[in-house]
Amino acid sequence: MPRLKWYVPFYNVTLSLTPFQLSGDVERFLNIMHLPLCTLIHVDKYTCKQDYKNILKHINIKTNSMAQKIITFANHKGGVSKTTSTASIGACMAMKGKKVLLIDLDGQANLTLYFIPNEDEIKTSIFDSLVNGVPLPVKHIRENLDLVPSSLEMASAEIALTNLLARERLLSNLLEPLRKDYDYILIDCPPSLGIVTTNAFIAADEIIVPMTPELLPLKGMRMLDAFVTTLQRVKPSLRLGGVFIARFNHRKLNKVVEQAVKERYESITMNTRIRENIALAESAGSGKSIFEYDSNSNGAKDYLALTEEILSRNQ
Ligand SMILES: Nc1ncnc2c1ncn2[C@@H]1O[C@H](COP(=O)(O)OP(=O)(O)OP(=O)(O)O)[C@@H](O)[C@H]1O
Ligand SMILES: [Mg+2]
Repeated sequence: MPRLKWYVPFYNVTLSLTPFQLSGDVERFLNIMHLPLCTLIHVDKYTCKQDYKNILKHINIKTNSMAQKIITFANHKGGVSKTTSTASIGACMAMKGKKVLLIDLDGQANLTLYFIPNEDEIKTSIFDSLVNGVPLPVKHIRENLDLVPSSLEMASAEIALTNLLARERLLSNLLEPLRKDYDYILIDCPPSLGIVTTNAFIAADEIIVPMTPELLPLKGMRMLDAFVTTLQRVKPSLRLGGVFIARFNHRKLNKVVEQAVKERYESITMNTRIRENIALAESAGSGKSIFEYDSNSNGAKDYLALTEEILSRNQ
């Protein structure tokens, strides 16, 4: 079997690999490091781009074949716009041509109802997959946009998952075969820090925290920080990747809290804030995304800006 040399720029190393190895360990390594295969540069003098293409054909790997990112939207405080943000950012990414999968982990099923207002259409939910191990029920809801629905049963998931083996990795394992089909997978969490949210944190490449500009949620962030620290024992690379202010209005307290968030989460505070906007509240019950409901609203404008900020960070 011929060996070819490949340079990995991010790690400044040269690997000498057979096509077989390239399709096995190294692909896995690159996946874990979130590097597409095309980051490998072929350095053998006597081979050319055509050989690279032949090898890819031979081992049947498509470049960029994995989800660029799994993003979890989380905050144990209720009503801070986790669901509104997951729905709006997902819809916006899909409009921009990204293939997006939304995952609803909350027993309130608000994200599901956002896009599928008729509950009777939901025969199986994420609960069946987490508890019984059946493949995730993926529903196609818009062009480029799919959804794994939740159901009321998820309210009992904390207890149902208690005795399962490797229970904190169930979602991560279920998403693995789907990763290659999407550019982004966005996960909406329940307002708690239990085993369900743990699953979302372990599965995620990035955790983004929406916050309302009030003092109590800011104080509550200490709990979230402690939760992340605990989970770092299982997943050392785990970090909060972004914090943004949602439901901003021009009351004095909002500015004070926004400043405090910037000071505390300096490097990860997003530039975009989402203003309080009635169209966002109205669209939630309408079965339409904010862009379909009122594309001229401040809600649509703010979520467009936030989505672009998230996408630009991943380019
Ligand atoms: N920017 C906004 N302006 C006005 N209303 C908003 C805005 N963002 C969210 N809302 C409304 O606030 C309520 C709570 O939002 P949402 O359901 O997104 O929060 P959540 O964090 O997912 O809540 P929970 O913790 O209960 O799951 C909803 O009625 C939603 O329509
Ligand atoms: Mg919610």
